Amino acid sequence: MEMQKTVHFRNATIEDLDLLKRWDEQPHVINSGGADDDYEWEQELVKNSPYSEFLIAQVGEQPIGVIQIIDPKNEETHYWGDVEPNLRAIDIWIGEPDMLNKGYGTQMMKLVIERCFAEPNVTAIIIDPLVSNKDAIRFYKRLGFEFVEYRTFGKDECIVMRLERI
Ligand SMILES: CC(C)(COP(=O)(O)OP(=O)(O)OC[C@H]1O[C@@H](n2cnc3c(N)ncnc32)[C@H](O)[C@@H]1OP(=O)(O)O)[C@@H](O)C(=O)NCCC(=O)NCCS
Repeated sequence: MEMQKTVHFRNATIEDLDLLKRWDEQPHVINSGGADDDYEWEQELVKNSPYSEFLIAQVGEQPIGVIQIIDPKNEETHYWGDVEPNLRAIDIWIGEPDMLNKGYGTQMMKLVIERCFAEPNVTAIIIDPLVSNKDAIRFYKRLGFEFVEYRTFGKDECIVMRLERI
């Protein structure tokens, strides 16, 4: 096993536009994303919403992936529909193909879980991998997420999974 380095987060900015667009073109990102998952990066990166943030994960100086954290009840697109308050919903992907399967996703999730639960009112974190994304579902289970329900978002057949605050 290769030595794993430490991941840290920084806020995504408009300077990351080309990077995020390049990652969107990666086959492993396309396969995980589903038909309705196209971000309008030019808008997302300058939106400054209190209910949504994008963080770039870096290993040293190298950006490797991205995380979006939203408050699903209040987030502007209401992607999650009518959900309870005090949740966070997460999207995660590693953009650089040669950085997959090295434990960096696990590190990113641990950091993001800690960050979400650092807010005392947050009760649980939810995620919605595609039913077909078996690797991601196994990955989330290993991190403690549990099956809630099958749910269709637009044309995407997903599994909703949830991690309660301990
Ligand atoms: C899902 C995702 C974030 C996981 O990140 P990752 O860094 O690849 O995950 P990890 O490396 O922590 O774990 C993945 C596998 O690598 C293995 N692994 C972990 N550390 C390792 C290491 N140092 N060396 C070798 N293998 C390792 C894990 O055991 C795991 O094995 P498994 O697939 O057999 O269960 C990443 O695969 C990804 O971005 N996929 C595309 C987008 C996506 O699907 N996002 C989720 C949408 S809901």
